[in-house]
Amino acid sequence: MEILTSPGAMRAWSREQRVLGKKIALVPTMGFFHQGHLSLMRMAARHGDAVVVSLFVNPIQFGPNEDLDRYPRSFTKDCELAGQEGVAVVFAPEAADMYPAGFQTTVSVEQLSRSLCGADRPGHFNGVTTVVSKLFHLVQPDMAVFGQKDFQQLSIIRRMVRDLDMGIEILAHPIVREPDGLAMSSRNVYLNEQQRRSALSLSGGIALARSLYTDGLLDTAVLKEKVREHILSYPGTAVDYISFVDRSSLEPVDRADQETLLALAVSIDGRVRLIDNGLLVGTG
Ligand code: PAF
Repeated sequence: MEILTSPGAMRAWSREQRVLGKKIALVPTMGFFHQGHLSLMRMAARHGDAVVVSLFVNPIQFGPNEDLDRYPRSFTKDCELAGQEGVAVVFAPEAADMYPAGFQTTVSVEQLSRSLCGADRPGHFNGVTTVVSKLFHLVQPDMAVFGQKDFQQLSIIRRMVRDLDMGIEILAHPIVREPDGLAMSSRNVYLNEQQRRSALSLSGGIALARSLYTDGLLDTAVLKEKVREHILSYPGTAVDYISFVDRSSLEPVDRADQETLLALAVSIDGRVRLIDNGLLVGTG
């Protein structure tokens, strides 16, 4: 496995692969790999001939009071794990190379970026779409894999690719969960034992909404209250949002149906912000 840090070297590698007729599959990440990331790599390997994993903690998608400085990092271990998955290249650029002095261009998917996490984290999705566009230009992948845990991010990337005719296939990987239901996330490492228990309020809230929906409760205002009560019954939890939205438009819906997605963001002890989501008819 090669580790490339220079954008120019990355571009040159990709050009060679394309001349050889290889299909490149990209997995964009911020590192600190867990089973969820490894599953994305496996999916990429099933679809492409050569897998590139980008590993870059993107400063422009963090707000001023967010966790950029303490975001968990484990570069050596990550490279080992990626190597074991048969990844061809880990692309780990420096921030100064991605955003040299004078950098001033932003890619923005206006409407889809405003709601849900976009409302709580202004500028976050512009940071994501800008870095992902840059990665797409540098790596020139045929396809890229994103996790459904960041459902809004996935919708925004799909929109960007369509709107800007990027010609890259976007593959979605289902949420990977711990045996007790907690969605895997690099940020789970911040949780102490008590907070880890409270983190189950998210998957529990989704399970509750599903079971109420299956029993015929379709009014999302009522469903929302039930989910809120459930989440707040765990110590230290505060709800950032509970939203029942249409899975395609991400617009809120009053009456749930099989296209309805429940999206949640919950802060625990005001320190760790977790997100989760699920279709009301789904299981993942
Ligand atoms: O999902 C993430 O880890 C990041 O938002 C991404 C897509 C790698 C962009 O920095």
